[in-house]
Amino acid sequence: MDVFDPCYAFQDAELIKSAGCYPFFRVLSASDGPIVTIEGKPVIMLGSNNYLGLTHHPDVLRAAHEAIDRYGTGCTGSRFLNGNLELHESLERELAEFVGKDAALVFSSGFLANAGALGILAAGDGTVVFSERENHASLIDGFRLARAHPRVFNGADDLERQLSERTAWPNALVVTDAVFSMTGRVIDLRRLIELKHRFGFRLYVDDAHGFGVHGLQGRGTGDMQGIAGDIDILFATFSKSLASMGGFVSGEKRVIDFLRHKTRTLMFSAALAPAQAAAARAALHVMRNDASLFEKLWENVNFYRKGLLRLGYWNMNSTHPIQPVFVGSESLAFRMCQEALELGVFTTPVVFPAVPLGQALIRTSVTPAHTIEQLQQALDVFALLARRFPIPHVDPANLPEAAEMDFSYLFAEPPEEGEVPVAHLHA
Ligand SMILES: Cc1ncc(COP(=O)(O)O)c(C=O)c1O
Repeated sequence: MDVFDPCYAFQDAELIKSAGCYPFFRVLSASDGPIVTIEGKPVIMLGSNNYLGLTHHPDVLRAAHEAIDRYGTGCTGSRFLNGNLELHESLERELAEFVGKDAALVFSSGFLANAGALGILAAGDGTVVFSERENHASLIDGFRLARAHPRVFNGADDLERQLSERTAWPNALVVTDAVFSMTGRVIDLRRLIELKHRFGFRLYVDDAHGFGVHGLQGRGTGDMQGIAGDIDILFATFSKSLASMGGFVSGEKRVIDFLRHKTRTLMFSAALAPAQAAAARAALHVMRNDASLFEKLWENVNFYRKGLLRLGYWNMNSTHPIQPVFVGSESLAFRMCQEALELGVFTTPVVFPAVPLGQALIRTSVTPAHTIEQLQQALDVFALLARRFPIPHVDPANLPEAAEMDFSYLFAEPPEEGEVPVAHLHA
């Protein structure tokens, strides 16, 4: 047995490549935000997390350039030792003030923030961790670092059922995404806070996809639902609305100070690069000062969302800029994304294990930087796909059961337009 045997046996990627619809690691040679260049051809980017479209905002670009001029390109060391910039500290103060917490701690990536913070917080003797079943990989890797074995819950009702085993849970840490990254589903944080008051646990919320989208000036999902002050630890990333890299956790001063001195992913990893920190800070300023960004975002989301629904697609009831297109079959998702790209629209297939087997979807997302014309072009492409491929009309209460991996569409010739009847999964 050679340790490389699993590598040599791995064939999934080759299988999809041989069918001509491998959708991963696509090479972009240029980008202006809503339009990217792939193989020399401009396509509409409908697969990003650039929720405020700020990656090319003049203030953000200028701040990044100035930070390079002032500090150079890298910190060449961790914040703990030689790489702690005034820029990191001011960003932390501004973030903490913005989200209404005592303190914040900035990491080089959101993944490192979640994994590092939970690697410590979930490791306490006797701590019981409850984790939402769709939680992001960085949270799950945090539990792994902590050697914790979380109890998985499926929404607030299920959490309540599990907590009801005891009258109080002062030793419990409940961890959840506020917005689930593949479907745009928003969790009811108010219910979780009611449970928190009843059972006395601590609540850690990952608002990667709600920060910069929900709430006053983008303060996040907790702010939108009126319970921000009840979240014990709030996490968000700079890699989405803030158009940069990096992430932060925020909360009580003594807790954040403890994490500052204990978190291995902060202490033993190089500090967030100056340009990234400055870009995130500038994006935060733009987001706080330009209300028109949000108006444009929601105008675009509404336009695009209604268009998808009119075409007969099921968007899994998402009202978020993430607009999933439910497809069902894994191979159909690969095939449709490939066709969409050839027709000028970049989307991403989401397949098992990111979603249950047989519940594949195409993830699309809208930004304020898209023009209505670009979104209409994208809808025209989806209209064409709807005529070419069987769009499942799904009864949301009755999703398909986990099925065998279905590769039939990978190798099928795409049918001629209009040839395919709409498929009813639950006819
Ligand atoms: C819900 C969620 N949490 C955390 C992260 C990690 O953030 P980052 O991209 O900053 O590493 C992501 C990014 O994919 C995410 O979607």
